[in-house]
Amino acid sequence: MIIVLIQVLLIFSLFLPSFSIDQTANSPKKLITWKEFKKSLSLNNYPIPKREQYETVKQLAEQFDITTKEELAMFLAQVYWESLGLQHTKEIACASSKCPTNYRTGREKPGKYYYGRGYIQLTWLDNYENCSMDMYGDMRLVEEPDIVSDTVEGAWGSAFWYWHKYIHDIPEIHQGKFGYSTMAINGALECKGVYKIKAFRRYVVYVRVLEAFNLLDNVKPLQDGCYPMSGKDAPGFKLCIPIGSYRTQAGLFHWCNDNCNSADSNCPTDMCQCEP
Ligand SMILES: *[C@@H]1O[C@H](CO)[C@@H](O)[C@H](O)[C@H]1NC(C)=O
Repeated sequence: MIIVLIQVLLIFSLFLPSFSIDQTANSPKKLITWKEFKKSLSLNNYPIPKREQYETVKQLAEQFDITTKEELAMFLAQVYWESLGLQHTKEIACASSKCPTNYRTGREKPGKYYYGRGYIQLTWLDNYENCSMDMYGDMRLVEEPDIVSDTVEGAWGSAFWYWHKYIHDIPEIHQGKFGYSTMAINGALECKGVYKIKAFRRYVVYVRVLEAFNLLDNVKPLQDGCYPMSGKDAPGFKLCIPIGSYRTQAGLFHWCNDNCNSADSNCPTDMCQCEP
């Protein structure tokens, strides 16, 4: 009996080292892999990112207390939507003019403009000051606001900062209710205003990020927190998926969701299938 037990222990201990090495190799606790990061963009038809982007996300997510893939998926979805898949780091309308009469408080130094920069646009002197102090403990982003748009760390850092300050502590965010993040970022126009379909498109990007993270079997993506979900004012947007030979075609996922949910719906039943 004892010998058997010792044998079992021995055999088990033989397996232990390789078992723990495997654990690290597969990294079940890793917040995001390079493959998942690339896929979260490509499934949304955005360009393949640089490796530096991925390294920066991993590092800053930890620094700004994002510890679950579910929250990271929400954050990335909002970042992708705001920056057109990491392609824009400046408010497009201000990129050449600098919008010299917008976002003025009277406290700005001559020649310094605080229009939207970074992956979730940082605007107004106040936010540049607070972001700079929180990230660096000095005023470098106020002195040189282009750090926010022209460096990978500035573009991501300002976005993580915004999320941490204004969104991370909303309890419903941790219940998977994506609409609460849209409400915090652009609620006046997209949740209460006339651009509700844009809020829905953000949500569709989020669904695709969850898919890239392989989470759709465990997580039900929820639109809640933005427009009403029931009653006469509910827009009634339904998640749709392309079917048959359209299933894997680039762009069809977003095509189905746009076209089936638009006011003049064009939703061929042999192409798209929507939630009941
Ligand atoms: C920036 O920080 C100061 C001091 O903590 C605070 O009073 C102010 O409201 C903050 N500004 C913004 C836009 O959050």
